Amino acid sequence: MSFKLELEKRLYRINDIITGYLPKEEGYYKTVLEAMNYSITAGGKRIRPMLMLETFCLFNGRNYDVLYPFMAAIEMIHTYSLVHDDLPAMDNDEYRRGRKTTHVEYGEAMAILAGDGLLTLAFETAAGAYEKVDENSKDALSIYKRIMRAYKVLASKSGVHGMIGGQVIDIEFVGKTVTQEGLDRMYLLKTGALIEASMMIGAIIAGAEDEYVDIIRDIAADIGLAFQIRDDILDVISSDNILGKPTHSDEKNDKPTYVSIMDVEKAKEEVASITDRAKKAYEALPYRNEFLVELITELISREK
Ligand code: IPE
Ligand code: IPE
Ligand code: MG
Ligand code: MG
Ligand code: MG
Repeated sequence: MSFKLELEKRLYRINDIITGYLPKEEGYYKTVLEAMNYSITAGGKRIRPMLMLETFCLFNGRNYDVLYPFMAAIEMIHTYSLVHDDLPAMDNDEYRRGRKTTHVEYGEAMAILAGDGLLTLAFETAAGAYEKVDENSKDALSIYKRIMRAYKVLASKSGVHGMIGGQVIDIEFVGKTVTQEGLDRMYLLKTGALIEASMMIGAIIAGAEDEYVDIIRDIAADIGLAFQIRDDILDVISSDNILGKPTHSDEKNDKPTYVSIMDVEKAKEEVASITDRAKKAYEALPYRNEFLVELITELISREK
């Protein structure tokens, strides 16, 4: 089967899983539930749950029921980060995933609350993984431990020492001249952390040994870095229509990025060489998942 067809099949399955965890739009505070669903059902590439699932498969994971809540949770956290990232106080963007941003559609207060709602729902959803464990099975205790470990990774990588910390650096870098090392530090947090969480959780729930979880974290950090540099590139070379979000957002906000400190061709070379490093580390593992390698390769040249 072609890579494109495989990708579509997975996207369909992932969207189905996510939808199963979304709130019903009813009750006195239905507006915020609508705003939460508005942003998460708008689409998106679902890269994070996909990397989680594929890493789980790489380590021959079997308890899919335990993994699914974490797949939905990571996409909720990612979507909340986008809703808040687009707010007037942050990147002030009016277009996301091919639709008006949440604050344009629902107002700023509701967008803040919808983001908060997605973040907390993510942890409620992930915690629900414990209900999928068969208490009477002989490895129940070990699965409970995997769930708690994955839960801690989800929290720490989303928090101030992870994605939020990166967003803080992003804000503080506005208008400044920064080095490539400075940008890398920011990218490893604002984008790398959630990609690390995705792949580490896939490995942890599958029962991968500690040394492999560490290797996966390093591979994911590189994928995250390359992913953010490609995002910087697309911000200058793509179009609003293809991206589903405004181009030239970084320039508008005076943000230092890879394409502000070097030319686009050099930035593309960086993406390729960082991805190459990730693939070499992957090839040294005694596990195989062809689709995962193709997915990582595809991310280098993605158009959106
Ligand atoms: C956008 O993430 C924010 C970055 C970290 C670059 P994605 O490019 O994964 O956005 P969606 O989920 O496909 O909309
Ligand atoms: C966002 O980086 C990273 C997040 C943690 C949300 P950007 O601000 O470059 O993401 P886009 O380009 O708006 O998607
Ligand atoms: Mg931003
Ligand atoms: Mg932004
Ligand atoms: Mg961007």
